[in-house]
Amino acid sequence: MPLTRKAYRAAILHSIADPAEVGIEASYEYFEDGLLVVENGRISALGHASELLPGLPAGVQVEHYPDALITPGFIDTHIHLPQTGMVGAYGEQLLDWLNTYTFPCESQFADPDHANEVADIFIKELLRNGTTTALVFGSVHPQSVNAFFAAAEKLDLRMIAGKVMMDRNAPDYLTDTAESGYQESKALIERWHGKGRLHYAVTPRFAPTSTPEQLTLAGQLLTEYPDLYMQTHISENLQEIQWVKELFPERKGYLDVYDHYQLLGERSVFAHGVHLCDDECARLAETGSAVAFCPTSNFFLGSGLFNLPMAEKHKLNVGLGTDVGGGTSFSLLQTLNEAYKVMQLQGARLSPFKSLYLATLGGARALSLEDKIGTLHPGTDADFLVLDYHATPLLSYRLKQANSIAETLFVLMTLGDDRTVLQTFAAGQQVHQR
Ligand code: GUN
Ligand code: ZN
Repeated sequence: MPLTRKAYRAAILHSIADPAEVGIEASYEYFEDGLLVVENGRISALGHASELLPGLPAGVQVEHYPDALITPGFIDTHIHLPQTGMVGAYGEQLLDWLNTYTFPCESQFADPDHANEVADIFIKELLRNGTTTALVFGSVHPQSVNAFFAAAEKLDLRMIAGKVMMDRNAPDYLTDTAESGYQESKALIERWHGKGRLHYAVTPRFAPTSTPEQLTLAGQLLTEYPDLYMQTHISENLQEIQWVKELFPERKGYLDVYDHYQLLGERSVFAHGVHLCDDECARLAETGSAVAFCPTSNFFLGSGLFNLPMAEKHKLNVGLGTDVGGGTSFSLLQTLNEAYKVMQLQGARLSPFKSLYLATLGGARALSLEDKIGTLHPGTDADFLVLDYHATPLLSYRLKQANSIAETLFVLMTLGDDRTVLQTFAAGQQVHQR
């Protein structure tokens, strides 16, 4: 293959550590006039333009963005493909919302044409919002995952997805069986896992919709294929937690159900965790599991406030999730806007650098992918964004008053959304232009 090399000059910012561990100042690198060099889909150099430009071989094209910020691509650690058509459904909390809106909407994925159509819309929406990697729930139908991976493969995206396993407490038209869920997941793993930049996630929806037999087989898949992901929901809503107690009276609590079936580990991501207790956070941390913090969803469904300081106390890996369609935006900038308010309501703060960490390196760590994505370190995938300081008249005017990168970053996260994302790059290729 011929060498392709290109350089991008702009203000450049990336998170290099968790502010909770190293303090804010040591958690990021910022180049006011920076240069990012990309070779064959990977980052080959990052630094000050004044230092790198003289050594750049003649003929390498340099794109210059005088009024923009380059960051790593955003990482959404929890989202549902088949809920794209029902974002913003009125009036219910989790369990009624699932029955009234979610299950009927997901049933449309029985039709492969529908699955293909929505997968295209969904991936465009991710890229328009600057999300270059997502951990994605399909529907119970294997064709939802086939459609998603086929569309992601065409653009060489790093994506993780799985077919929902659900063999009870859901309508007949939307359930598998313990055996069919296992076999269909296995066929998808054989077809897609490790192909290009794609990874498979074993996806039991949540404890109430899987029998003990199905949870056992989900755990078995994880032992048969050691580098698989696992995604599910946990402790989102008080009625849900009560229901889990009734269904699994022999277990100590909600997390213990998943623990019993050997679903915890370094590639396991549990969505929400709003009502987790100290012991559960400690156990999640001990096993290297991660939680997806989904603030727009937790507000929209009235689920509660995620306790990020408690997670930090336990050194628990936390990523950010949009949880569309319980969440109301594909934008991780808008998700951070709401995350800030979640902390405010608990008398705590969310610094813009912690926010950047959650949307990038924190997400990568939650997915055990920090050697590949989440930063702009040389050697990692060239998945990055160009954020436009003049995306809207208000943003442009507001940023003129900003005196530091901290303030600029915070305003981008408060006022920013899909309009802020001028360009999105994946594996060095431009995959979105506003
Ligand atoms: N718990 C089980 N299924 C779901 C879902 O689709 N969305 C959310 N937010 N929580 C769930
Ligand atoms: Zn969800």
